[in-house]
Formats: sequence, C-alpha cells, structure tokens
Amino acid sequence: SDPDLVARATAAKAALGDRVFVLGHHYQRDEVIQFADVTGDSFKLAQQAAARPDAEFIVFCGVHFMAESADILTTPQQKVVLPDLAAGCSMADMAVLGQVETAWEHFQDLGIADDVVPVTYMNSSADIKGFVGRNGGVVCTSSNAKRALTWAFEQGSKVFFLPDQHLGRNTAVLEMGFDLDDCVLYDPHKPHGGLTDEQLRDARMILWRGHCSVHGRFTVDSVREVRERVPGVNVLVHPECRHEVVRAADHVGSTEYIIKTLEAAPAGSAWAIGTELNLVRRLALAHPDKQVMFLDRTVCYCSTMNRIDLPHLVWALEELVAGRVPNQITVDGKTAHEARVALDRMLSLP
Ligand code: 13P
Ligand code: SF4
Repeated sequence: SDPDLVARATAAKAALGDRVFVLGHHYQRDEVIQFADVTGDSFKLAQQAAARPDAEFIVFCGVHFMAESADILTTPQQKVVLPDLAAGCSMADMAVLGQVETAWEHFQDLGIADDVVPVTYMNSSADIKGFVGRNGGVVCTSSNAKRALTWAFEQGSKVFFLPDQHLGRNTAVLEMGFDLDDCVLYDPHKPHGGLTDEQLRDARMILWRGHCSVHGRFTVDSVREVRERVPGVNVLVHPECRHEVVRAADHVGSTEYIIKTLEAAPAGSAWAIGTELNLVRRLALAHPDKQVMFLDRTVCYCSTMNRIDLPHLVWALEELVAGRVPNQITVDGKTAHEARVALDRMLSLP
C-alpha cells in the first residue's frame, strides 16, 4: 500500500493513542487490517467492541450492521466511526422492518405467533434486532447459530429466521437433524410470503428469503471441479453458502473457524476455501507450507467490505486527530435498548 498513507495512518493512530480502538473484520483489505488492534469474525468483534470502555472512539473496519451493533454494545460516551458510510451489506438490506412486521401480523392472524421465536443473524439492521428483542428472540452469528437455535426451540416450537435463508437451513438441517421439509421459505415480496396457512402451521423453521450475494456464487460445480483438479483437497466453506454446497463440502464454519482450522491443518494438506477473497488470500500467504486456494476462481470480493480502504481509514483517523468525529454511527435509544436485549441473549448463550 501507498507508503505515504501508511505513514499518515501510523502517525494518526499514534497521536490518538488509547483514545482509539480499531476493529477489523476478517474480510477487510490487507492495507486496512494492518492497522486493526483486533481482528475477528462478527461475534468476536461484537464482544471486543464492549471490551474497551475506556476508548473514546471505536473505528469499525467492517460493514454498517457491525458498526451499529458496536454502538449498541458500547457506553453512551463512546463514539463508533465507520470510515465509509457506503459500506453496507446487501443481505442485511434484504430484511426491512415494515416487511418483517407484516409477516408477524400474519402469524398473529393465523394464531401461530405465540409459538414462533424470531432469530436474526447478526447481518441485519438494528431495527430488525430491535424487533427480535421485543418479541422474545435472539441474535446469532455464524459461530453460534446452533446454540441460538437450540435456545430458541426451548422457548417455542417454531423459529422465524432472518435474513439469511442459508445459515438458517444449513444449521437446522446439517447440525440439528431437521428435515428439509421442516423449513419453508418466506418471500417478503409475495402476499403471505408465498406460503399457504397450512405450510406456515406445519413448518418448524420459517426462513426469510435473504442471502449473501458473495457466498451465493459458489456452486456444487465449484466443489466438484476442485476435487477433480486437486485430489485429496479439503473443502471448507462458510455457512452463508447454499445448502447443496455446504453438503458437498468437508467442513463448514465462520471466518474465525476457517482461520483456526487452517492453523491446525498439517503441512502439505490442500484446502479450497469458500468465503470472501481477502481472507482466502491472507490465509494462503500465512500458510506457505499448505496449499490454500479459492474455491471458485471467478468469485470476487465483498464489494461493500472493500469500500473501507486505506484512504478512508486515514481520513477517518485524521479527522479524529483534528477533533472532529466523521461518519459516526448511532442507533436511537429505544431501538438500541430492544436490540441490546437480543444481543445480550446471544452473548450469554451457554
Ligand atoms: P462471520 O465473520 O461471522 O463469519 O460472518 C461473515 C460475514 O459475512 C460478515 O458479513
Ligand atoms: Fe454482507 Fe455477504 Fe458482504 Fe458478508 S460477505 S458483508 S453477508 S454481502
């Protein structure tokens, strides 16, 4: 990366000292990750956001929903900064509060709402987390989805899973022994989700029709091709991949799990990784003794994660040095309170 920008970021961070805490998601660019005080998956970063109450500023190198969660979990004095406000998440945008409330009203009309526990993936807006919190539900991430679903099924007989159909289906079917038929897909663009009353009454998992466009591009063909090309290869994918892809893979887990699995892998082993490219490239560099490759060479970066680049980070840090707070992410008090209930339920899962 540009040596001038590296020097400016280094100087700005030094000038701010302990007043700033920089968090970096594993999908961030190398040029940004080098300035992170902590790197992690979305669960670890949510924990870490709350771990430094003395830091005046949290600079969140990740996407908008992560920065919102950090604002909810930090003290009122702390300020959360997202270096580029355009760093959103297309999956989180697939669940809008009004649509979710319409679905819930329909469940109430059908008389099933009392049996339904809402569970939202971390990759959702603070509004959606607030909805889940006030309706007795929990947040989950890709590293604790099974535990969150187990908890939810102790509270009620059905789960309404938002917004990632794949994480919901993969966890229920591949980790908890559900049948595919136990899951129905609720399409927010169709009346009553495109489902009959009977389907909704019979379902155990009501999955919102959302997905990640980056992970959605991996196919069973990608898995078949890499197995043909590299005999003995281990296929390791993120649970945001489609069900048939996860089924065809050897291992599935969050970004943190993927990193730990590679660390524990023997020298000489071969790994095809189905997740975002910045992380896969870093893993390949970190493990020269192993053969680490991208599961599908045509799949690219998460474009919104990549919005945070070194120029944006330098700008944000230099603004803080100058006494201004750029791109602050704030969640209103009522939403934050309700979302915190759902986040705290996740953080205290056994
Ligand atoms: P994790 O870091 O929790 O595995 O999530 C991946 C992701 O897509 C974040 O947007
Ligand atoms: Fe959202 Fe997918 Fe990017 Fe993660 S990888 S931030 S789920 S679009």
